[in-house]
Amino acid sequence: MVFRQKHLLGIEQLHPEEITALLDLADQYVDLNRRDVKHSEALRGLTQINMFFENSTRTQASFEIAGKRLGADVMNMAMQASSIKKGETLIDTAMTLNAMHPDLLVVRHPHSGAVDLLAQKVNCAVLNAGDGKHEHPTQALLDALTIRRSKGRLHRLNIAICGDVTHSRVARSNMILLGKMENRVRLVGPPTLMPSQVDQLGVEVYDDMAEGIKDADVVMMLRLQKERMDGGFIPSEREYYHRYGLDAEKLAHAKDDAIVMHPGPMNRGVEIDGELADDINRSVIQDQVEMGVAVRMAAMDLLARNLREARQNQPVEV
Ligand code: NCD
Repeated sequence: MVFRQKHLLGIEQLHPEEITALLDLADQYVDLNRRDVKHSEALRGLTQINMFFENSTRTQASFEIAGKRLGADVMNMAMQASSIKKGETLIDTAMTLNAMHPDLLVVRHPHSGAVDLLAQKVNCAVLNAGDGKHEHPTQALLDALTIRRSKGRLHRLNIAICGDVTHSRVARSNMILLGKMENRVRLVGPPTLMPSQVDQLGVEVYDDMAEGIKDADVVMMLRLQKERMDGGFIPSEREYYHRYGLDAEKLAHAKDDAIVMHPGPMNRGVEIDGELADDINRSVIQDQVEMGVAVRMAAMDLLARNLREARQNQPVEV
């Protein structure tokens, strides 16, 4: 099989062929999800535990639906970010869960690297549902599937990622994925919201929206992550919207058939105009949600195949 990963921790670890294989399988799951009867047996008998140490609605629901449609036994652990501390406590939680023999662990955590650490301690497949400002691989994969289905290809496209790049794991995973698939990626936003070593990322950087989205095939907006800011990043939301909020007027600089994306949740009237977000001729935001379920089904299916194979090849103890 092309897809060789034991875990899905980041896009960084994936080979372009693995990305393509995963998206091809996800296409099949899109078809399944559009039928009346949406069940498959791919994860039958397996236990999936969702551990979200940070608030989430769509990602957690998406993973839960994905697991259920594949026939897994799915459990959501209610993790209060405040009751769990970094380091040993996280590992202790992981070890306790590990003793219950889960097969798939879906983890979101506010600290970059926490999910990788956890993966080293457990005997099951771990999926990163977002770790700090580091990676959010299933988001980048669902964005890639949305782009590929809408544009008919996933290479040689002009893609502008706009807004609060510095706080965004979505931007990071997307930059890596889109770069691997040989697209031209531009980052657009105020210098205060750009990562410090942005010049080393192999992307073009703009602080003017009109220039940055000129001739873009895809305009990807990011949420202004107020909860990760400690003040001083933007003068005011009004001013930010004026310069960087996407509306029909600014979008006119992109290609005529450019699509508009947003990972959600959206701040309408801050980074995007509400009417544009709802315009089904331009916005693929609802498609992204649909693709999310299919991509997560594909990811869990592929990881479960590798898990079963690894277990079969384990020497029998006598
Ligand atoms: C993103 C996240 O959590 O990183 N949202 C999501 O997965 N639905 C983006 C964001 O919070 O802005």
